[in-house]
Amino acid sequence: MTTFKSFLLFLCITFLGHLQAYTQEKVNTREVLSLDKGWSFYQGDIPYPVIKGHNMTYRNAKAGYVSGAASPDYDDSSWCMVDLPHDWAIEGSVNPNANLSQGYRDRGFGWYRRKFRLAPEDKGKHLEIQFDGISTHATIWVNGTVLHRNWCGYTSMYIDITPYATYGDNVNTIAVRVDAEAQEGWWYEGAGIYRHTWLVKRSPLHIITDGVFANPVKKMGKQWEIPVEVSLYNAGKLSAEGEVEVTLISPDGEQVGRQSSTVSVTALRDKIVNLSLTVSDPQLWSPDSPVLYRVKTTVKRNGMVIDEVETKCGFRTIRFDKNTGFWLNGENIKIKGVCNHQDHAGVGVAVPDALWEFRLRKLKEMGVNAYRAAHNPMSKEFMAACDSIGIMVLDENRLFNTSPEYVRQLEWLVRRDRNCPSVILWSVFNEEPMQGTENGYEMVRRMYDVVKKMDSTRPVTAAMNGGFFSKYNVSQAVDVAGFNYQIKSYDRFHEENPELPLISSEDGSAFMTRGEYVTDRSKNLMDSYDTQCANWGATHRNAWKAVAERPWMAGCFYWTGFDYHGEPTPFRWPSTSSFFGIMDLCGFPKMAYYLHQAQWIKDEPVLQLVPHWNWPSDSIGKPIKVMALSNADKVKLLLNGKEISEQKVDPYEMNTWFVPYKPGKLEAIGYQNGKVVSRMKVETTGEPVRLRLIPYRHMLAGDGKDAMPVTVEALDSKGRHVPIADNMIEFTISGPAKIIGLGNGDPNCHELEKGNKRSLFNGLAQIIIQTTEGSGKVTLTATSAGMRSADLTILVNKVDLVPFVAVENSPMLLDKWMVSPGSFEKPDVTCQIADNDMNSWQPVAITTGKSIVLENANYIIFRTEFTPYQKLQENGGIIYLKNVVGKAEVWLNGQLIGTKATVNDQDLKVEFLPTKNKCDLRILFSGSVNTQVGLKGSVRIQEK
Ligand code: GAL
Repeated sequence: MTTFKSFLLFLCITFLGHLQAYTQEKVNTREVLSLDKGWSFYQGDIPYPVIKGHNMTYRNAKAGYVSGAASPDYDDSSWCMVDLPHDWAIEGSVNPNANLSQGYRDRGFGWYRRKFRLAPEDKGKHLEIQFDGISTHATIWVNGTVLHRNWCGYTSMYIDITPYATYGDNVNTIAVRVDAEAQEGWWYEGAGIYRHTWLVKRSPLHIITDGVFANPVKKMGKQWEIPVEVSLYNAGKLSAEGEVEVTLISPDGEQVGRQSSTVSVTALRDKIVNLSLTVSDPQLWSPDSPVLYRVKTTVKRNGMVIDEVETKCGFRTIRFDKNTGFWLNGENIKIKGVCNHQDHAGVGVAVPDALWEFRLRKLKEMGVNAYRAAHNPMSKEFMAACDSIGIMVLDENRLFNTSPEYVRQLEWLVRRDRNCPSVILWSVFNEEPMQGTENGYEMVRRMYDVVKKMDSTRPVTAAMNGGFFSKYNVSQAVDVAGFNYQIKSYDRFHEENPELPLISSEDGSAFMTRGEYVTDRSKNLMDSYDTQCANWGATHRNAWKAVAERPWMAGCFYWTGFDYHGEPTPFRWPSTSSFFGIMDLCGFPKMAYYLHQAQWIKDEPVLQLVPHWNWPSDSIGKPIKVMALSNADKVKLLLNGKEISEQKVDPYEMNTWFVPYKPGKLEAIGYQNGKVVSRMKVETTGEPVRLRLIPYRHMLAGDGKDAMPVTVEALDSKGRHVPIADNMIEFTISGPAKIIGLGNGDPNCHELEKGNKRSLFNGLAQIIIQTTEGSGKVTLTATSAGMRSADLTILVNKVDLVPFVAVENSPMLLDKWMVSPGSFEKPDVTCQIADNDMNSWQPVAITTGKSIVLENANYIIFRTEFTPYQKLQENGGIIYLKNVVGKAEVWLNGQLIGTKATVNDQDLKVEFLPTKNKCDLRILFSGSVNTQVGLKGSVRIQEK
């Protein structure tokens, strides 16, 4: 026993040695590394092993000892490799038995695993992994210990892995089990790790994630102040002194403000440092001029920068007024908004950042100045795009719940987004049955307070679709009452609540199928004349009129800007995506797009005509409904050069004619104060004879992330777009890009959204391409039977890659070892260890670069267990032991399989035969008393 005590003492000393090394804190600034590449993925669930027997049960309850697919040594060699963002639900086909709300997509379960190494120099740093979004519930393990359980598919997870990390030769394993059976919405929610992932390395004393709050506040006259709140954390072992400095940098890169303060942060504590930046007459942020300033926050120790973050902010004032609506920078404007979910054709919810930019720009071109993130937090890249493109955001919480976990989710949202100038309103819920009850009121009162504690500068709303006139209702607990639909209640509510500002948080729910002009409910088709809407909704025109004519209505948010997978209201199968969009699933405009342009855009002429002019011959002579969407005073309509009539433009209803059909050219001319300001024509085209590819951009960045949509259309012999073409198109691509999805905007189309084929729907289809890492020319070719094919060349530029964590494809590592008590006598290496004996042997760390001393002993045994990976089970393998110190015998399942006769530090390779069984590996070390023995390096199992 004495031998064993001294051995423990030795282990203790060794550990203290490490501790000392560990306290020498690293002082490098933060590194933010992408973890998106190289995840092993398994679609389906892998049950947790049945825990039985004392030994297994005991170990199962211990940190680092999870078993099954979450365990670091699990054999994932047969899984496929995916890069993130990833949505597995969009990959397969639709299923009539799956949930219509989720787009008839099977969701289910999935597992992800990612291995990586950390350099020995990383030891001492604070290490955090971040998941920006997993759909939907998830469990996350690192190195065999469960570190996080995710209960919301729209919130980020920041996980401190410092205590669990291993360095050098050792490999770190992240395992994630995703439960996408869980549903939080009634729309398509995707499945998997669908947003970015990161590894952030920071100095022990550092600014926490989302740890800078720098939101400008207007003071007297032209004076502004940015009260800066910096949240620090010290993961070090000792109290740490530092200097926190904030500087304000103007859009031209000039430093226009600075303040600093010294701080001392106790070990394992956080601290908030409050500083202030003042500035006079800054450039203001607005949707028309989205000027962003930067607040640079640095933390220094002994004059050296140890952490640094840049926070973008914008100077703007917002005010919701009970009588006059919304004011931005002292100007009374209407909020012209749209609600949206977060998926796109072809990619589901795994939307590349560049595609967000495409979507937001499309909305902006439509005249949109605001976006309701319905009904959940969006990605931080999305929020940054709204800030820089200039779109105001109604930022919405997902789940209505005031228990601690859900309060944490709301706090996270406010903390992350409270610097965004784009955010003008927080919404705590959407349409909750308890909205007209005292319970609901009590909940919102609490959520309101959670928000206000973190951000007192923005109002809070809740999107109500009822309960407005109940004795207790949640409008009594918010700053701005949010109306979903309920147009008929606007006036009564305003009269009864004259002190409360009002906004239409959700509006419309009108239906359209792009390019269709006849409603045929038997075929799940909706016309594009703005005649169809949900019973609870309104047409686009009626909804806007109700808001536009009431000065106290701050604005509206249409349901929706884009179609989305799921919720195919008012239909069911075979429709699998929505009909509500102003644009379709791909972002191709429907008639409503031009209608809103005509109503919302003032500074340039808008004129569009619907429908197309390609009607069958039996329509000749029959009246066709024609609409002009224009912001001119008057519009004149001509057919084949002959005037039909001129109409004064009705800015709400727009203008309609019934024109007897005759093939040819239908033309509209817009007049403003008697002058021609716009012209538009639609022509009867010939048959489609060739294809055309139209890229959204002409150059892409070769970073493996940049992406864009390419439009494919069919043209007639005169080069005119054929609006009714429905040909099947095939695509090939070469060069540094790949096709990541396809769509055509038809809610009734069941073609796969992955692959290389798609039919046109009413003349259009979309291919989404994404670069690989590299540069050069990408050639995309579209072919279709009987038509001339189209080629498109896009240039991919060489760019610096987003710094990333290298993918480790390591062999099996054996890193969990037990050591026996020492003895003078040669022990029986094959001795049985009782299943309930948890204490005679002790865990021993290997790969420490240190051996142990045989104090009062000549023999000790190291032991571990492993189940060979599939290939090793079939072929046998090699046990590769690095830096073995002392004489050693290697025993596998009771058989001696290798010997090391030398005392010196040496590597050892031992072969073993094919076996499917769990293997018991033991190493008997021997030597004279006080000599060194043990495993100083890693032990890995490799293929022969
Ligand atoms: C609303 C709801 C939206 C969507 C819409 C369809 O009640 O907030 O999420 O379902 O109806 O009309």
